[in-house]
Amino acid sequence: MSDPPPIVTSIIGTGSYTPERVMSNADIEKIVDTTDEWITTRTGIKERRLAADGEATSDLAAIAARRAMDDAGVSADEIDLIIIATISPDMFFPSTACFVQQKIGAQNAVAYDISAACSGFLFAIQQANQSMCSGASKTVLVIGAEKLSTFINWEDRATCVLFGDGAGAIVMRSGEVKNGHKVISTDLGTDGSKTDILKIPGGGSALPLTCENISERPNTIYMEGQEVFKQAVTAMSRSCVHALEKAGITQEELSLVIAHQANKRIIDAIAKRLGLSEKQTFINLHKYGNTSAASIAIALDEANREGRLAPGDNLLLVAFGAGLTWASAVVKW
Ligand code: ACO
Repeated sequence: MSDPPPIVTSIIGTGSYTPERVMSNADIEKIVDTTDEWITTRTGIKERRLAADGEATSDLAAIAARRAMDDAGVSADEIDLIIIATISPDMFFPSTACFVQQKIGAQNAVAYDISAACSGFLFAIQQANQSMCSGASKTVLVIGAEKLSTFINWEDRATCVLFGDGAGAIVMRSGEVKNGHKVISTDLGTDGSKTDILKIPGGGSALPLTCENISERPNTIYMEGQEVFKQAVTAMSRSCVHALEKAGITQEELSLVIAHQANKRIIDAIAKRLGLSEKQTFINLHKYGNTSAASIAIALDEANREGRLAPGDNLLLVAFGAGLTWASAVVKW
């Protein structure tokens, strides 16, 4: 007897939401000793969005999720799994996914968060894939959502210029689907020997917040920028090659690469290593800064809605983040 055909999994809808409040580089010049020129030349970022007071990560995620469900033509009761990638959850527990389940009315869904920093959305896609391939899930909502502004030290010019808030979502479905975009390959990796170069050190069990240490703001982002830069270029380039090999295609066959939107110079360096043209790379970081786990999800939705993807196109997604973590996925649009 021959083996049953492998279960295929597809993206069937995309959505995103970025908060209304825009903070430009000129606005940041009023807060710390920096310039629009420094931020633009070092990162490519021109502005970022900040969530309103009282707007939590789950609020951003729920709006993005509803937009993805509308795009997919899927109702909330069809969703059987919700995975949210975030490093800025509403609270330690319950998970942000539980709040989103309630907000969108997806009462049939199992819901949980994963933490893999800026690679989280692609880690979540991999988990969704595995859940569908095992037969445990059929229709999955995968969300990347962040309110990083909560965890920024607004006196640290080296980090506060980099980050923003937002959320992006996709609906995935198992089996052959009309107009579905098939996930062809994924590549994930972790290097726990470099946990120190990018982190929010305080507020957890290792370093609880106390009246004594709170003034040092250990509950905000700490980053060794140059080391992160080097690691990001190496890990993302290598992961792209692995995902392409697994998919059996070359970089010339790629229509679009959506890399984690942290820094234009990182994306340019990866493009140079892989021999990609400017036309093949998607950039929206000038509008949003680094939104961590939401970054690729927002960019994917924008690329979809802007008509940058046509049926049959090969799309490569690639991310890198704290951990260190990295991940890639090839999708046949
Ligand atoms: N405005 C003006 N000057 C600044 C600023 C600022 N906002 N920030 C730092 N500087 C100064 C520094 O104080 C330093 O001054 P000095 O030479 O007098 O000491 C000088 O600029 C150079 O600082 P570096 O940190 O060496 O600057 P670099 O060229 O490395 O750029 C940056 C910094 C943009 C953070 C870069 O290292 C980078 O992009 N790293 C990648 C990190 C990244 O993208 N992180 C996002 C997180 S990764 C992820 O997504 C999880």
